[in-house]
Amino acid sequence: MNSNTNLPFPEGAFRRADESPDEDFYRHPRFVTHIDEGAIAAVTQLYREYFPANAALLDLMSSWVSHLPADVTYRRVVGLGMNEPELRANPRLDAHVVQDLNRQPGLPFEDNTFDGAAICVSVDYLTQPVAVMRELVRVMNPGAPLVITFSNRCFPTKAIAAWHILDDAERMDLVAQYLATAGGWHAVELLDRSPRSGRSDPLYAVIGRVNKP
Ligand SMILES: C[S@@+](CC[C@H](N)C(=O)[O-])C[C@H]1O[C@@H](n2cnc3c(N)ncnc32)[C@H](O)[C@@H]1O
Repeated sequence: MNSNTNLPFPEGAFRRADESPDEDFYRHPRFVTHIDEGAIAAVTQLYREYFPANAALLDLMSSWVSHLPADVTYRRVVGLGMNEPELRANPRLDAHVVQDLNRQPGLPFEDNTFDGAAICVSVDYLTQPVAVMRELVRVMNPGAPLVITFSNRCFPTKAIAAWHILDDAERMDLVAQYLATAGGWHAVELLDRSPRSGRSDPLYAVIGRVNKP
């Protein structure tokens, strides 16, 4: 079953120029940063604001860096992504899982496992975002924040078609629509946290909190 059928978007919105398995695209590690220092600092600041110390966190679509504040201790940080060497090299992760969310959007975690979750510069690659957002509601605790950040760069062949035709503000609306369609989210905020210098990469965030008993 395609869980996108309930979205208020045409099926073609989630097509990609490169429909070959994601496994092939992410087979080789990329030990690079995908946004510049200023934008990374903005992500870290958001994590500082939303994720309490000692929380159990999920870094979804993770790599070798998680951008969590270096001076804050978390109880447990779990990363899920596509490339094993990158995840193994990530010093913030206590555990990691390699999983293609576009093939298997179900998350391999128990209900109510995490106090917060992050998706950094990756949401544009999800072809079943609503199914993933529903799973996040299940594995996160009531009230836990999900911090989704993105900039204006991407791997163009792997980003969904809708991403390419929308501007930055519309992309925030699209991501908020994922949460609304999934259900189980409230206190949704759309933030422009682009560094003021104007020379850095822009940084946008959509943040929601789990709304369940
Ligand atoms: C641009 S990188 C961002 C990595 C990291 N979040 C960061 O902030 O640097 C995109 C990430 O999304 C992950 N990713 C892409 N497609 C995925 C998929 N189908 N399932 C799970 N993770 C995926 C990749 O493993 C990669 O680490």
